[in-house]
Amino acid sequence: MIVLGFQHHAEQGKNLASMLGCGYDEVATHHFPDGESRLTLPLISTEEISEVIVYRTLDHPNDKLVELYMVCSSLREQGIRKVTLVAPYLCYMRQDKAFNPGEVVAQRVIGQWLGEMVDKLITVDPHLHRIRHLDEVVPNTQNIVLSAAPLIADFLSQSAINPLLLGPDEESQQWVSQIAERAGLDWAVAKKIRHSDHSVSVELPRQAVTDRHVVIIDDVASTGHTLADAARLLRQAGAREVSCFVTHALLSGDAEQVLAEAAITHLWSSDSIAHQSNVVSLTPLLADTLRRPPAHAT
Ligand code: R5P
Repeated sequence: MIVLGFQHHAEQGKNLASMLGCGYDEVATHHFPDGESRLTLPLISTEEISEVIVYRTLDHPNDKLVELYMVCSSLREQGIRKVTLVAPYLCYMRQDKAFNPGEVVAQRVIGQWLGEMVDKLITVDPHLHRIRHLDEVVPNTQNIVLSAAPLIADFLSQSAINPLLLGPDEESQQWVSQIAERAGLDWAVAKKIRHSDHSVSVELPRQAVTDRHVVIIDDVASTGHTLADAARLLRQAGAREVSCFVTHALLSGDAEQVLAEAAITHLWSSDSIAHQSNVVSLTPLLADTLRRPPAHAT
């Protein structure tokens, strides 16, 4: 097999290939002035290579999805038998229901499309809220869902700050409870109401936070308002320091400014999306998963 990456996050793709002990090659991408993409794939010998692992994290996804579709289709045309997508961040997972009549349930539509593109999909902490498993939205594909929770727990254990962990909303309970259990830390979950893209209000739980270093745990930081609102309330409630650990540092628009104004001590993240806050590498976890032999039905 080989890992096929893109210039944009070449480093993670190369590291993955080196941990797997296989070759790495890249899709050459040119963007025309009108926004269309011209993609050039390396020539792959189908006599030697039967599986291609496409490494592409899917933040800012619209262009990336079209390019991914072009790449997967061309690999099939070249005769590649198995296409595996490693997408540490999986896009469109938060739109899992029609909140208004006529609204497209993007999770289902994009999931269906990905199911048509690839044979196997590996991702990390996708935002699964109202559905239990990725198989329900990405059909006919071997889906492997990994979690950064053990890595986050180990990072926090080593940091010696003995924090109280806080999930900012009910969806975050799945991650915060796992991290707290592994690291032996106290935890609680707040309630969140989202008013618009850039406006949320968080209601803290009754847990005492006075003089604690609180670490807010979430899967995604996008506009940063969820973390910022929770951090402000925690400070008002007497927390000594507030830090945040997110699996996916999307950090759109002015998110970094929003977080800076909320006086967050540390912002930590996994390297699912390259950012200066990355402190945990997912590559060993992804490589171990790819090395595992396929499970056979009994
Ligand atoms: C949604 O429930 C997610 O878990 C995150 O809390 C949310 O996406 C964060 O978004 P933002 O940073 O825009 O508040």
